[in-house]
Amino acid sequence: MRVPMMAGNWKMNQTIPEAIALARGICELASEYDNVERVICPSFVCLSAVRSVVADVSILLGAQNMHWADRGPYTGEISPTMLEGLVQYVILGHSERRQHFCETDETVNRKVQAALAHGLTPIVCVGESLEQNQAGETYAFVGRQVRAALEGLGPEQVGQLVFAYEPIWAIGTGRAATPEQAEEVCSNVVRGTLRELYGHELAEAVRILYGGSTNPDNIQAFMEQPDIDGALIGGASLKADSYAAMVRITSELYARQAQQE
Ligand code: 13P
Repeated sequence: MRVPMMAGNWKMNQTIPEAIALARGICELASEYDNVERVICPSFVCLSAVRSVVADVSILLGAQNMHWADRGPYTGEISPTMLEGLVQYVILGHSERRQHFCETDETVNRKVQAALAHGLTPIVCVGESLEQNQAGETYAFVGRQVRAALEGLGPEQVGQLVFAYEPIWAIGTGRAATPEQAEEVCSNVVRGTLRELYGHELAEAVRILYGGSTNPDNIQAFMEQPDIDGALIGGASLKADSYAAMVRITSELYARQAQQE
């Protein structure tokens, strides 16, 4: 069984004191649910402070982006060597980065390769726009993004990846995909592409998250889908109680499922 993951993407939202307070709240409310991998992704400037807060609990850290080069003349960028030892995960190719910061399938692939080379686990984001969705292009577009992210990777590397399917039209809109819509893309497109390229066993081992307006009220329905292994949570991860509620609901669901097996 794949270990479920609840990853909070805090985006550009917290000052250092605010991030410390949020992390403390999350430690208090979400540290006991060990059957769920809990990952929080503060901004770069908050990582060190948040790391001190979560040091003694089983909550892991992720970064929200990364450059592919180890060092060099890239003003304002953060390298994998800087993140090594600081975080376990790094979100790559988020649609906000693709939309506003000119990230392409090619740069995302370079970042994925660099992250893996430095022992960081990429959470690779893919997802279509509303126009693409309405034009029936979701499968082709998301499939292309998945293939591009995997370019040049061997099976051992692919086995370490986490994917996040985040339809752009569902992000921050309060209009989540239906669990069935999300399952269809996670299963047929993301896992399907992995299966086609790397075989059944490897495809079954990779975790796929859904992201886009998830909250404590809808998380259970997403987590009941067979190919959805977690959530990449934006807004609802900015409050300790709603994030912790999503962790608890997932933890209880997986505990029930484990008992039934
Ligand atoms: P929301 O949960 O706020 O829709 O954001 C999703 C997201 O973009 C996570 O990366």
